[in-house]
Amino acid sequence: MTTVLDDVHALDGISRRLADRDRRFVARPTTRIPLAVRSGEGAHLIDEDGRRVLDLTSGWNVANAGWNHPRIVAAVVEQAKELAFAPPWCTHDARSRVAERLSGMLSTASGVDGEFKALSGATGSEAVEAALKVARRATGRQATVGFTEAYHGGTLGALQAGGVPQVQGVDVPTSQFHRHAPIPDMLRANGRDYAALVREALLSGPPPAAILLEPAFTNPGVIHGDREFYQAVQAAAREAGALLIIDEVGTGFGRMGHTFGFEHWGLQPDIVVVAKALTSGAVPMAGALMRSELADAVSGPGFSSTFGWVPLACAAATASLDVLEDEQLALRARHLGELALERLRPLVDAHSSIAAVRGIGLELGIEFTDESGDPLPRPPMETLTRRLLQRGIFAEPSAYTSTLLLMPPLVIDEAEWLGALDTIAEQIGEMAEAGEFA
Ligand SMILES: Cc1ncc(COP(=O)(O)O)c(C=O)c1O
Repeated sequence: MTTVLDDVHALDGISRRLADRDRRFVARPTTRIPLAVRSGEGAHLIDEDGRRVLDLTSGWNVANAGWNHPRIVAAVVEQAKELAFAPPWCTHDARSRVAERLSGMLSTASGVDGEFKALSGATGSEAVEAALKVARRATGRQATVGFTEAYHGGTLGALQAGGVPQVQGVDVPTSQFHRHAPIPDMLRANGRDYAALVREALLSGPPPAAILLEPAFTNPGVIHGDREFYQAVQAAAREAGALLIIDEVGTGFGRMGHTFGFEHWGLQPDIVVVAKALTSGAVPMAGALMRSELADAVSGPGFSSTFGWVPLACAAATASLDVLEDEQLALRARHLGELALERLRPLVDAHSSIAAVRGIGLELGIEFTDESGDPLPRPPMETLTRRLLQRGIFAEPSAYTSTLLLMPPLVIDEAEWLGALDTIAEQIGEMAEAGEFA
């Protein structure tokens, strides 16, 4: 199958050979652009042929501190010389320190009195499932409420709790215990009261152990409600006796202009799931961070993780959290995000194919629709991605809506960011004029 790659970065050189081998030997779930990446530096990725692109994906919200931040690299190298892995039942200094630090960060962010305990894992999916298991044990209930189109990971339990329709009843068995409310997609509201629909999902059927919520639903296209919506969801969860699990895998660690995305909505979560940017991608690491009293539920073989919070990962997390604080990355994200919205919002009036420019901090999207307000088919979005790549900018579309996602490393240089936004606006203008979004 021909992919976008064919006429962009794999036309020649080492990238071409790598792409051919990749296609032959690697089972890939999508035909997204597999840049033949060799190295990274700040907000740039460099391919095997030395081509440098400005990355607006952060590897989907992983490289918040930028690619190969020297402080994180140094910490990992030092730790690797000492001890990379430790038996998970043994303690080590960095593990309890990171847990203590995250507990403090969460108490401050949520205003919750009391401490949080960390359940360790290596991937976001694993930590989402850990959170769900804790909620089930703690409440003695089995049901969960999630959101249609929300993605919380590719493992069975995470897929069931999330609501990507294509996999329900196919890759995962349907179950009366997993209910889904619609995401608060304001463009397609048609008078629907999204908060009321969430309340209904929480209060009808078997009582739920938890609701799984994102401060902004990244994968569907950076879709989020307003403060009223999030507060209503929290109130309905309390009324239903369900725990509030916030998935911060994509939104955590400065992305939305706060340490955690939920701060934007003033929420008080029971469990917070973190992964991705916790180490800025240097080493896999994830956690389900729960209010201390819930940790009684954590016992037995269902909760162990061999590669959870190994010394190498904890060193990376420590350095990454240092960078987040010292370089005030959340503040940067807020500032650069406001500049971007100002610059991009005129696109909505300028082009009939652009339905919305939205987001918070550096969690942004430009949504394209056809004349009926439906998402565009894949080809024009892929053309946009390809043309941007030819101009040195790497940005990708979302799944459920045709939204160009703009989620750069939070260290991106301000002038480069604004320049990239102008290039994007120019490219959209050229394609709109040529009728390529029609
Ligand atoms: C919001 C959200 N939750 C969970 C996950 C799963 O994380 P992982 O791929 O590390 O398992 C993802 C991955 O993209 C995600 O975006």
